[in-house]
This record gives sequence, C-alpha cells and structure tokens, in this order.
Amino acid sequence: MQPQTAPLAPSPDIDAASGSFAADLARGLAATPKRLAPKYFYDAVGSALFEDITELPEYYPTRTEVEILTTHAADIAALVPAGAALVEFGSGSSTKVRLLLSHLRDLSAYVPVDISRDFLEEAAQALRADVPGLTVLPVAADFTQPFALPDAVWGRPLVGFFPGSTIGNFDPEDARRFLANAKDTLGAGAHMVVGVDLVKDPRVLHAAYNDAAGVTARFNLNLLHRANRELGTDFDVAAFSHRAVFNAPASRIEMHLVSRRPQVVHLNGRTFSFAEGENLHTESSYKYTAAGFTELAESAGWTSQAVLTDPAGLFSVHILAG
Ligand code: AVJ
Repeated sequence: MQPQTAPLAPSPDIDAASGSFAADLARGLAATPKRLAPKYFYDAVGSALFEDITELPEYYPTRTEVEILTTHAADIAALVPAGAALVEFGSGSSTKVRLLLSHLRDLSAYVPVDISRDFLEEAAQALRADVPGLTVLPVAADFTQPFALPDAVWGRPLVGFFPGSTIGNFDPEDARRFLANAKDTLGAGAHMVVGVDLVKDPRVLHAAYNDAAGVTARFNLNLLHRANRELGTDFDVAAFSHRAVFNAPASRIEMHLVSRRPQVVHLNGRTFSFAEGENLHTESSYKYTAAGFTELAESAGWTSQAVLTDPAGLFSVHILAG
C-alpha cells in the first residue's frame, strides 16, 4: 500500500487496550508454556522503569545507539531528500529523533506513530516548542498493524525510523513481516533507519538483563502488579522471581517470571494454576549479527545501504533503501 492510495482508516481503538490486555493475558495463561506480550510492560510505571533501565551501567544498548546516531547524524541526514517526511515507529517520548532533527533542516514533516495517544500529543507539543518550524503530525496507531499516514505527507519521499532495537522483540518471521509492511506503507523510494542489538559475549548480555540494582526485575514483575491493578487478578507477586537468560541457539534473551510456589490466579471468573517453578515467558529480545539482520531486511524487500556500529561492535544502526 502506497501512501498515495492509503485509505484514511480511523486509528485503532486504543481505548480498548485494557480489553485486549485481559484477553491476551487469559490466552497467554492458558498456553503452554505460559506467555504474555512485552508490549504490556509499558504502563506509566513500566515506562518509567524502562527509562531507569536505559541509564543502568550494565544496559549498554541505549547509550551505544545514541553514540552511533550522534556520530553519524550528518551521514544519515545526507540520505534524506529535501522535503522528505520522517516517520518514527513507536516514537514514545521522541528522544532519539532529536539527535537527527538538528541535521534535517529541509524536513517537510515528522510523523511520530505510537499506540499511546496521551504520550504522543505531549511529545509532539514538546517537539514543536523545541524545534520551531517543524511540522509534527502524530498518528495514534499500533505500528505492528498496517496504518494510514497523514494526507499531508502525500507524494513526499519517506524515511522510516525504528530505533531502540524494538525490532528485537519480534520473532524473526514477524520482524520480516513488519519490515515488508513498513516498505509498503512508506512507498517507492523510501529509506529506513533501524536500530538492532548485536550478538556478543553472553556475560555482557546476561548482565544487561540482570542488573545489580534489580531495576529489570522490577520492570518484569510490574506486569503482574499491572494485571492486579487493572484487571483485578490476584497474582502473589512476592512469590514470583525475575529470570533472564540468553538462549544461544535462538539468539535471544528471554525474560520469564517464575512462580516459586504453586499458586492459582483468577481472571474474570477463570482460574489458572502455576506449578512450583513454572515460567511465564514475558519477553524475547533477539540479538543479530550485522550480516544476519542485513539478510533479514533484504528478504523483506529492502536493500542494505550501510551498517553503522560503535567501535566495540555492541549495537548497529542499519540504513535500508526501498
Ligand atoms: C525496548 C525491547 C529494546 O529488549 O532490551 C530492556 C526492553 N527488556 N530490559 C530490550 C528491555 C528488559 C528492550 N527493548
């Protein structure tokens, strides 16, 4: 689907998000092994905890990506044609895009796409205040589903921006599908800038998801507190432990919540039991080689134009051309 022909579909009903939290939790608790999608980490408490994670000494991805974007901002800006629009997938507080914006003087619009409508409007206002003359056109949508771009970017060259290794939360097949959808959404002549965490010494990976201060554990356990708060479940959160391990054959960090005792949990009149030591799988965070991600992007129809990394080879930023 090209932006020129995209129907002006209404944004998904993001107010129904708590309904889908209940439905997804019920489905995940009934599954074997039990699981829940990582997008549910990010309520207000979880988003604040994630901000804290990005500042932990062990958590290298955020500061390394910022370093790469800062070092190469001018090169990245050079491939953005005058009059282009920049579309960010899952923009959150639009922090990282600021590293690029000062180099992108001829941008026609910045289009932050995020599922959280409140956050989105706040971030848009802040950017308009800080970057006078920048047209900010927020879109409230679940970027994992096809969505319509604003009319105002019709016919503009488009550049997608997907930092943070958020793409690592998708299984490789879903990541491929996302990249192919993004290519359709952005249309002919598009570019895409994607942040991807790299495979490295498992001890470094392990430390990044098992920080000494226990912030990642609190982030993980907040899922259960959130369910208790919002859905009236009765998880005994104190009886769960955080567990993060590198699954080398699958090339992913897996986060789990482990019930240290047998327990029964109630959700909307249904009961779900945990055996002692049973896992709830809450996140996969895939780690790629530069070549492996290039191959994945090319299988989705993109051409790799450049792979930018830090000197230690911890993280990568891929520049893709449509
Ligand atoms: C936001 C998905 C990139 O996988 O490193 C951080 C989330 N989970 N610590 C990641 C996360 C635990 C993060 N991503």
